[in-house]
Amino acid sequence: MFENLLVTGGCGFIGANFIRYLLDDSDFSGRIINIDKLTYAGNPENLSGIETNYPGRYLFAKIDICNKDEVANIFEKYQIDSVCHFAAESHVDRSIVRPDTFIQTNIVGTFNLLEVARNHMDNIRLFHHISTDEVFGSLGKEGYFTEDTPYNPNSPYASSKAASDHLVRAYHKTYDMPITISNCSNNYGPYQFPEKMIPLMILNAFEGKPLPVYGDGLNVRDWLYVSDHCTAIWMIMKKGVRGETYNIGGSNELENIKLVKMICDILDEHKRLSDNHPRKELITFVTDRPGHDRRYAIDFGKLKSTLGWSPEESFESGIRKTIQWYRDNSDWIDRVKSGEYQSWIKEHYG
Ligand code: NAD
Ligand code: TYD
Repeated sequence: MFENLLVTGGCGFIGANFIRYLLDDSDFSGRIINIDKLTYAGNPENLSGIETNYPGRYLFAKIDICNKDEVANIFEKYQIDSVCHFAAESHVDRSIVRPDTFIQTNIVGTFNLLEVARNHMDNIRLFHHISTDEVFGSLGKEGYFTEDTPYNPNSPYASSKAASDHLVRAYHKTYDMPITISNCSNNYGPYQFPEKMIPLMILNAFEGKPLPVYGDGLNVRDWLYVSDHCTAIWMIMKKGVRGETYNIGGSNELENIKLVKMICDILDEHKRLSDNHPRKELITFVTDRPGHDRRYAIDFGKLKSTLGWSPEESFESGIRKTIQWYRDNSDWIDRVKSGEYQSWIKEHYG
């Protein structure tokens, strides 16, 4: 079905998990061409072993999706017939401080990809766009985001993703490009860069450092284990109706403070801090994020009823697996925290 699949941003958290899933565990039989700019969030080590385990089925090129000529070369060189587009600036806090790169990568970069794909329309079977539930804005205590919820993004990150969603949809309506879009809730799991809430809290709690909880800690997120996101994406790519969008969620709503306490308790079960204090004492309430959305919750009924997808991982098992992964991968953590992975990238890619 898809022979030459272009994955963008495949060295990031979800992209790397997706490539591993496609090659290790799915019925995908084609070749993956991964293009990634290797920003601070892109780490080739997230895909270690893949090139040797799948010779000829995995190729990598360090490319910025904002560079249209380089993207066009890739389409021609590898006869790209499908796209799964992850590449993005993805951290809300960074978008508040420096929105510029979010506009460039998330909006202009997506536009470039769409334009190049349009120039190869005869060959394109699917352009799948990965997006977020943050485009819908914030919920009150009740209700869920559905595919019909009006867009109401509140951060520069969410706004830039909303803009890219609109562009992708417009290329279907205007040019009949075969597209699908997925809007997913917060992910967690292996290889997540430790700026995001869950890995940040795990790593700080390992070391007995303060655990910075924004505002009153009562903001709610709907957490999804990353492998469940990967199965949903692949299902949508294979069976989703072209032109449609699908919400993906975990049915795991949790207040931030409860989640941080849960991480503390699990770590304490294994080994207390050296002074024997419970890790919960590390929790520190800090100034709230500006425009901090109160609650996200996803209704994934469409994906469930039309394609038969449901998440497999419970939050309890997923968070334990995640903590264990970070415990088992201290070398990865050290290289990410020290910036050593960036020196490696410079040495190999200039
Ligand atoms: P990430 O920040 O871990 O990875 C992003 C990847 O994109 C990195 O490898 C980075 O080097 C690459 N990249 C950035 N700018 C690029 C450019 N100009 N050209 C080429 N590559 C570039 O992000 P993630 O958490 O894996 O998120 C992946 C996608 O999923 C994003 O589109 C994000 O909006 C979406 N999403 C994320 C979540 C989540 O909870 N993390 C939830 C829903 C949707
Ligand atoms: P984050 O992982 O940044 O994802 P997003 O902002 O995309 O939802 O944050 C998840 C939640 O955790 C969000 O409500 C903000 C909060 N948070 C903290 O309280 N402290 C932190 O240090 C971070 C990074 C996030």
